[in-house]
Amino acid sequence: KLKLPVFLIIAETAKQENIKAFVIGGFVRDLILERPSQDIDIVVLGSGIDFAEKVAKNIGKNARVKYFKNFGTARINWDGNEIEFVGARKESYRKDSRKPIVENGTLQDDQNRRDFTINALSLSLQENNFGELVDPFNGFQDIKNRIIRTPLDPDITFSDDPLRMMRAIRFASQLKFKISPVTFDAIRKNCKRISIVSKERIIDELNKIILSEKPSYGFKLLDSSGLLDEFFPQLSNLKGTETVDGKSHKDNFYHTLEVLDRISVNTNNLWLRWAALLHDIAKPATKRFDKESGWTFHGHEFKGAKIIPSIFKKLKLPLNEKMKYVQKLIFLHMRPIILSTDEVTDSAVRRLLFEAGDDIDDLMMLCEADITSKNAKKVKRYLKNFKIVRKKLVAIEEKDSIRNFQPPVSGEDIMRTFGLEPCREVGIIKNAIKEAIIDGVIENDFDKAYDFMIQKGKKLGLKIQK
Ligand code: CTP
Repeated sequence: KLKLPVFLIIAETAKQENIKAFVIGGFVRDLILERPSQDIDIVVLGSGIDFAEKVAKNIGKNARVKYFKNFGTARINWDGNEIEFVGARKESYRKDSRKPIVENGTLQDDQNRRDFTINALSLSLQENNFGELVDPFNGFQDIKNRIIRTPLDPDITFSDDPLRMMRAIRFASQLKFKISPVTFDAIRKNCKRISIVSKERIIDELNKIILSEKPSYGFKLLDSSGLLDEFFPQLSNLKGTETVDGKSHKDNFYHTLEVLDRISVNTNNLWLRWAALLHDIAKPATKRFDKESGWTFHGHEFKGAKIIPSIFKKLKLPLNEKMKYVQKLIFLHMRPIILSTDEVTDSAVRRLLFEAGDDIDDLMMLCEADITSKNAKKVKRYLKNFKIVRKKLVAIEEKDSIRNFQPPVSGEDIMRTFGLEPCREVGIIKNAIKEAIIDGVIENDFDKAYDFMIQKGKKLGLKIQK
């Protein structure tokens, strides 16, 4: 199975240098699972750096080698693969450990210190037993049985690196594996220890859960293990229902997960999936009950959009245009629904197009995923109305080009016409033109907008410059 030329070169080098080398970890796991994988980890009984240097020499001038002396590792990029070399270690295996690691060990030592049995498999690259599996913990069987299990007592494995609790759930979600009860109990017991792990590392794993085929599986495990409460309490706060006067509201946590699963069928856009995850985040804060309307969450979309920056900051998510995109989708996520319950007027569609811009299709996808009602009639009605909204969106965009709205008359035009310096009136006129176009009072065209500007200017008492 080790068909790549690089394995032959490594084997050749191992023979030359009289040193033992093995492929280990994720690559071996993915090979057995028949998943594609570009990252290859090589462990050698000796110096990983010296060995990488020899391998690079044997590859020739195309090999790019990078040395990480502090960590005792080296990386070669070649032939579309990233190959990492490390000497076998006795202590915890941490690629990103800040501590320099020096203690040499045997292959078995190295395997002992890995996160899961499915990640502790290795394949020999020695000439006499090339490709032979070294599997001290029955990892092969665990892969076949789709089980995540730590090689050692899970309390030890998790205290070496508490991030591994997240990783267990990430692998379960990504690979559709089960976590063994002993390992899962240890996660529950040790969940508070996740607090010593940096948010960046947690989020890397969380994003992989979000990007898995059915993210709800991972989130339910995060919830029942207690981890979610530790690093993302706002999300677990969506859990629960309440009943007053015999009226209950739905459980917004499970609803959110359903929306996330539903949108994941249609998109791999991480940030659109984040928007689905957070679209109802302000429901607990806006929840009300009164006798007439029952349960309401008025304004949860506005409040939700408003608190996104604080959530992104806490989770160390990027505070850039990705965040703005998530905010915008949350802000607008009730609009198509409201639109489709009233009569769909052109001006309401124009306004939605104007505000959503190029993200309109993503917004519609989110809104369709948001329809999780068990009432088939209701669902049918919503979906039918959404179809009408979509049709109108296309028709109006064709006619008026609102999606990337540029005002047909610029601020410069306004100042020149009325002989103004930059001032409040310029903004007022500009905005009035925009509103008139969106409301369908005038068309999105220069001449119409120019006439409108003249009238608006006169009303404001401005004089046209000759
Ligand atoms: N590893 C570990 N503990 C960690 C991180 C990694 O024991 N906290 C070990 C595992 O043996 C893992 C290997 O290091 O297989 C490589 O780690 P990484 O590249 O993060 O994961 P992969 O298993 O390669 O999986 P993926 O590529 O999906 O991240």
